[in-house]
Amino acid sequence: MKPIKVGLLGLGTVGTGVVRIVEGHQSDLQSQVGSPIVIEKVLVKNVEKARNISVSTHKITDDAWDIIRDPEIDVIVEVMGGIETTKEYLIEALERGKHVVTANKDLMALHGPEIMAKAQEHHCDVFYEASVAGGIPIIRTLSESFSSDRILKIMGIVNGTTNFILTKMSQEGASYADVLKEAQELGYAESDPTSDVEGLDAARKMAILGTLGFRANVALEDVSVRGISQVTKDDILYAKRLGYEVKLLGIAERQDEHISLSVQPTMIRKSHPIASVNGVFNAVYVHGEAVGETMFYGAGAGELPTATSVVADLVSVVKNMKLGVNGQHCTVPYKEKKLKNDEQ
Ligand code: NAP
Ligand code: HSE
Repeated sequence: MKPIKVGLLGLGTVGTGVVRIVEGHQSDLQSQVGSPIVIEKVLVKNVEKARNISVSTHKITDDAWDIIRDPEIDVIVEVMGGIETTKEYLIEALERGKHVVTANKDLMALHGPEIMAKAQEHHCDVFYEASVAGGIPIIRTLSESFSSDRILKIMGIVNGTTNFILTKMSQEGASYADVLKEAQELGYAESDPTSDVEGLDAARKMAILGTLGFRANVALEDVSVRGISQVTKDDILYAKRLGYEVKLLGIAERQDEHISLSVQPTMIRKSHPIASVNGVFNAVYVHGEAVGETMFYGAGAGELPTATSVVADLVSVVKNMKLGVNGQHCTVPYKEKKLKNDEQ
């Protein structure tokens, strides 16, 4: 059986999880896809850095082109983050016929349509399940399971770092700065945590969910954003006394024929299921015209939950390679111009 060769871009929190799962679950993965999955080369910034994972079997390099231009590599798994340079790598990988799995919401929220178009042009797959809500399979749910429905509302806690901070401030009276530091140490926060605490990370995720849920080209600037950096322990305390929790909520809603999207700290009645989503956990509530109300819950960040989604995407890519259906599963309904309603 010819192995499927993977080029892994990034060996930080998520990349380490990907190596652990691909190697730790190898026989199970192989029985599902019919071939060994081999991480052939790994891209890092600093090849000298001490790693908490053994990578002796792979070639570790700081030369991205050595991976992207390697004709032996079938799939690029991008878990390095970044936008413009990363986009350049992925576009060239697709042009070379390599399939792509990415956890990068920054990239997909800003350049998703271009990347998907390139993938279709070259009959390649691009999967990005881990880009929103870590271990919760919400991208597949919106694009496949609910493809038959008309989504009316998507509401959720889609940033683990801020939910971790708000939970610890609420339950332990911890200080914002201390908990942010802890979230960074646990690998939940972005390399620049400003995007977490100022709501940008959640806004990018809501743009992706809105695009999929409403089948419209939702851009980042369509999302009004406020983060949690101004939320104080007193705000949380007073909200609690009144019977509420404070959560950073993303809300995407159809209003008549328009779509509105926002991310902001919100007071939620303690009796609402979203109020009890604590720590790094995320939850996404989806209301469809036909399906009614549904809610999805799980770890929104962290090494193994996120890597679970990445490796599941890798399995989908390999299954498609075997079936010869690559390029047909990346038909995310991006349209040429931004739509505000179904008819336009
Ligand atoms: P991370 O811990 O900071 O790891 C990034 C990795 O990429 C590191 O191994 C780093 O190399 C490498 N890297 C970064 N820039 C590079 C460059 N220019 N050239 C070569 N290598 C480079 O990041 P992470 O938390 O794993 O997140 C990775 C991606 O997944 C991001 O897009 C993030 O938004 C997304 N994501 C993260 C989580 C999470 O829970 N952390 C969840 C969902 C999605 P060195 O090791 O040498 O520094
Ligand atoms: N920094 C992000 C979060 C990682 O805290 O949710 C997962 O996308």
